[in-house]
Amino acid sequence: MSINVKQLAAEKAVEYVEDGMKVGLGTGSTAYWAIRKLGERVSEGLKITAVATSRASEEQARELGIPLVAFGDIDSLDLTIDGADELDSSLQLIKGGGGALLREKIVASNSTRMIVIADEGKVVDTLGKFPLPVEIVPFAWEWTVAELAKLGCQPELRRSGEELYKTDNGNYIADCRFEAIEAAPKLALTIQNIPGVVDHGLFIGIAAMAIVGKLDGSIEIIE
Ligand code: A5P
Repeated sequence: MSINVKQLAAEKAVEYVEDGMKVGLGTGSTAYWAIRKLGERVSEGLKITAVATSRASEEQARELGIPLVAFGDIDSLDLTIDGADELDSSLQLIKGGGGALLREKIVASNSTRMIVIADEGKVVDTLGKFPLPVEIVPFAWEWTVAELAKLGCQPELRRSGEELYKTDNGNYIADCRFEAIEAAPKLALTIQNIPGVVDHGLFIGIAAMAIVGKLDGSIEIIE
């Protein structure tokens, strides 16, 4: 039987959730397993409240009976558990493959601790093989994409079938192929300063720990 490495990492992360915590729920196929396990623990009596980073995760949490709160009702979160598309040994991440990067960054940045969950294929020496998702406003998107291209990447507007993909916030995503991102903090600042950019998928100095599931059934902790 093959091992579900995403589930392995996700379920380990859920062990860090304690009674009374306010928890941020990530988005994606790895976060799915964490939310599922949390639902199980809630049904066994764990008392938590949660906020979700996407409509999909919110729906899953609601179906599982995980108590959701409004952002206005809490100041911050104790712990956010979320996936990543790439991570390095310094816990720099690329996120946004699922399009929820803006909400994910807001939630993770307002958490005392963010735990990243991933399978071993996501761990890289240098970020950038995975195209960096950049959320941009639809207005004059052509100009914003042109500015992104000046940074030495090949931006491509994400599509969903025939249509341009729209985030939960009504924006577009430009997937920017860099191949190698040598100075992620500098690039993060440069991209953030382009008018029209809402946010980007580089998460620098946000994650406190990564739990990596491996095909041999072991778990690697990076912190
Ligand atoms: C969602 O926008 C993303 O940031 C996901 O967290 C990331 O793409 C990881 O997704 P998977 O767990 O599905 O690989």
